[in-house]
Amino acid sequence: MLPSNAYVNEDVPTVAVLSTFDMLLFGGTGELVTRKLLPALYRRYAAGQVTAESRIYGIARTALSRSEYLAQAEAACRAYIGKEFDAPHWEAFSGLLNYVKLDAGCEQDYEQLLAKLKGRDEFVRVFFFSTASNLFSVICENLARAGVVTPLSRVVLEKPLGHDTASADLINQQVGAVFTEQQIYRIDHYLGKEAVQNLMALRFGNALFEPLWRRGLVKHVQITVAEELGVERRGHFYDKTGALRDMVQNHLLQLLCIMAMEPPASSDPDAVRDEKLKVLRALRPLHDRDVLTKTVRGQYKAGAVRGVPVPGYLEEADIEPDSTTETFAALKVEIDTWRWAGVPFYLRTGKRLQDRLTELVVTFDEVPHPIFEQPQTSNTANELVIRLQPDESITMTILAKNPGEGMRLKPVSLALDLGETFKTRSLDAYERLLMDTVKGNRTLFMRRDELDAAWRWIDPIRAGWEQYDDRPKTYIAGSWGPAASSSLIGRDGFSWHDEQ
Ligand code: BG6
Repeated sequence: MLPSNAYVNEDVPTVAVLSTFDMLLFGGTGELVTRKLLPALYRRYAAGQVTAESRIYGIARTALSRSEYLAQAEAACRAYIGKEFDAPHWEAFSGLLNYVKLDAGCEQDYEQLLAKLKGRDEFVRVFFFSTASNLFSVICENLARAGVVTPLSRVVLEKPLGHDTASADLINQQVGAVFTEQQIYRIDHYLGKEAVQNLMALRFGNALFEPLWRRGLVKHVQITVAEELGVERRGHFYDKTGALRDMVQNHLLQLLCIMAMEPPASSDPDAVRDEKLKVLRALRPLHDRDVLTKTVRGQYKAGAVRGVPVPGYLEEADIEPDSTTETFAALKVEIDTWRWAGVPFYLRTGKRLQDRLTELVVTFDEVPHPIFEQPQTSNTANELVIRLQPDESITMTILAKNPGEGMRLKPVSLALDLGETFKTRSLDAYERLLMDTVKGNRTLFMRRDELDAAWRWIDPIRAGWEQYDDRPKTYIAGSWGPAASSSLIGRDGFSWHDEQ
């Protein structure tokens, strides 16, 4: 019996036969595991999707007893889950949870891991690598050497996979020496978000939008992924990574692909991924000085977010004092296809911005010949605004007649609040993605060629920045980024949605 306040999402069909699994979480004491993966597994357990025979192993270098690890995990889950946290339920869930101290480079440690998994080869085994990607290869080699990899094994690789095309290729080769492509799950958690799946539903479940979704009718598209958070406890990682690799190479390009792709022939994983790949391959490369006119990189300085003072990036822990790492990136992207030739896509992401917001805006053309008195606003184009975070909504602005005499038009909204409509909490991306790895469903994971195409487009931007744009532009924490970001889109006669 589930406790009365346990969360159950009734919209998620219970799989007829639940697979028992062993989930091995490398990087087990890190933020991702304690704040996202364990809460996700706990929730799926509460929803009855984790069998009592399944086991979850936090794996890390630190010497910790099982009870110490459980205490850490519980504190993190309590904080993350909030009032849905249920102590008796946690008690039951924590019975599945173990800790293994393992040094990635130490062969003997893998023997101990093998001993723990003895007699469990018939179960699905998921290795989740939430470590720096330069450790993936040594972990794979040692897992193989110790005989821990079984035919029912899968490996999940967290992003960013490498730091450029060459390093990603090397990691893929090294992981590919131990796991087949069918066993490899490259995660981009944005693909697991309910709202991102809704975007697919909007585009390919309705005949309405398809005829409009093209050059000649769409003027431009904006994709914004804005965060209020700074670098948190991830200074070391972030300073080597920056917004382009951390967000654009994966999340923003994936959103762009879903917005721009041709309708796939089916929802089969490869049919969808083939179409996304075509978009990535059609992105017009940004070379050399293009970065000066088509990209902006920024770095936050001290300011206030929602009235709370916050330090500048250079004052954050573990950041080099003269770091040129970007915490903001804006780009003008062109897609060289018949559908999208001449339609700019503007991408923007940053930390310590004014709001947490993920939003896609499609701006349509104005009527070719206005016959009514024009509204007192510069913005008379129809807009489709798809908001993915923090709330999920779809809003269409249309022009309607202002009541009263004459024919004066005014922009009004047709708005759909998806949370309100379905009255249910969406699954967290990791809940869905982790269960997909157990079920062996790869639809929401990136294929090797997609990753490669994304890096190939990103690399010249980095190179251009290094050569022609030596320092990021600063912006005040709590703003919408550097002024140059407004100029980037302003040069084409448009403005960001929040500036209208
Ligand atoms: C991660 C990035 O992939 O996505 C983080 O590494 C970022 O820097 C996070 O904060 C944002 O994810 P979400 O789901 O909170 O929008």
